[in-house]
Amino acid sequence: MFGTRPEIVKLAGVVRLLGPAARTVHTGQHYSPALSAAFLDDLGLGTPAVQLDVGGASRGRQIGEATAALDAHLTDDPPSAVVVQGDTNTGLAGALAANAGGFPLLHVEAGLRSFDRAMPEEHNRVLVDHLADVCCAPTETSRANLLAEGVPDERVLVTGNTVVEAVLELLPDPSDRPDLLARWGLRARGFVLATFHRPENVDDPHTLATILRALADLPLPVLLPMHPRTAARAARFGLGTVAGGLRLCEPLGYAEFLGLAAECALLVSDSGGVQEEASVLKRPVIVVRRSTERPEVQGTFATLVPPGPGICELAADWIDGLAALHARLEHEPCPYGDGTASARTVAAIRELAAS
Ligand code: UD1
Ligand code: UDP
Repeated sequence: MFGTRPEIVKLAGVVRLLGPAARTVHTGQHYSPALSAAFLDDLGLGTPAVQLDVGGASRGRQIGEATAALDAHLTDDPPSAVVVQGDTNTGLAGALAANAGGFPLLHVEAGLRSFDRAMPEEHNRVLVDHLADVCCAPTETSRANLLAEGVPDERVLVTGNTVVEAVLELLPDPSDRPDLLARWGLRARGFVLATFHRPENVDDPHTLATILRALADLPLPVLLPMHPRTAARAARFGLGTVAGGLRLCEPLGYAEFLGLAAECALLVSDSGGVQEEASVLKRPVIVVRRSTERPEVQGTFATLVPPGPGICELAADWIDGLAALHARLEHEPCPYGDGTASARTVAAIRELAAS
């Protein structure tokens, strides 16, 4: 089950390996074509077997409506097991529906913890982990988080993160990247790629203006594909002029985004997936957040900076020593595995479904 852009990215390999045994269900939490249909196409999933229509709503309503719709679907056509990913409202709804119907549940990307109770995702992921029969933890750190909360060891499996194989599969060949750069008038290692969508960064006018101003002050061109949430807030808050110095665009397709991420000087982002991808692509990322559920990349590929002038200060520092920074990161290992997480997850799904 999936419903948002990152869930499609991280479940694509699992669905592909399951083949005809997989039935895909999209809740419709993300409904704009740039975040749903484009990703289903890019990741080779095509049209989901079941398309629900939850759409944008308050968190409680999104979870409630998705749970009810998924419960009805599972009752009509019972599966051998249910698979959810990550920490979205869709993931929690899928877990609740599986639990209500008595279906075995596997959680992909289990055990991440920011210990920040202001984040809806923290509550979602804790609840899903405790409902799941199998928790596929990407790293030993996430496994330790689960054990510390009393999740029994036999329910936890360290698999790596499925994002690694998504990147390896979709990353454009170096020979195709000059065309991608030319499309945006950018130079390799001569631009910043930025993404923002976290409520704490985009729902408050002052914070969003602070971030946009910091980006506009960077000494390199900044390409900012706008998540629909961010675009809606920037328009509502009248921030068009603040964003004037930036190259704004619609959300990019996955392959194009990866190609540009591999060629940028640095990333500035509040995305979880982008931090993991940076560790595969060996690019530095300024993470505009106050807490993180991804400690594995902090201090190597990623550095937390709260919204404010610190963004410019750190970016300027990195740009000053860019060649040395990139050379150092080339030798940093990716903490999320070797591209076999989907295969390990599928083995666990088969075992769970047969039990
Ligand atoms: C959701 C997830 C977040 C994940 C992100 C990935 C939760 C609690 N949040 O956040 O963890 O990192 O997806 O991108 O599940 N909108 C559109 N078109 C769309 C989707 C959203 O216009 O296709 C706009 C709507 O105004 C909507 C708002 O964005 O109300 C928020 O969308 P929502 O799915 O609730 O949360 P995200 O911010 O996308
Ligand atoms: N992404 C993309 N195009 C964009 C911005 C992001 O393909 O214009 C991809 C990015 O590579 C990552 C995923 O979207 O795989 C992350 O989604 P998002 O930041 O919305 O969610 P999060 O990972 O924070 O949950």
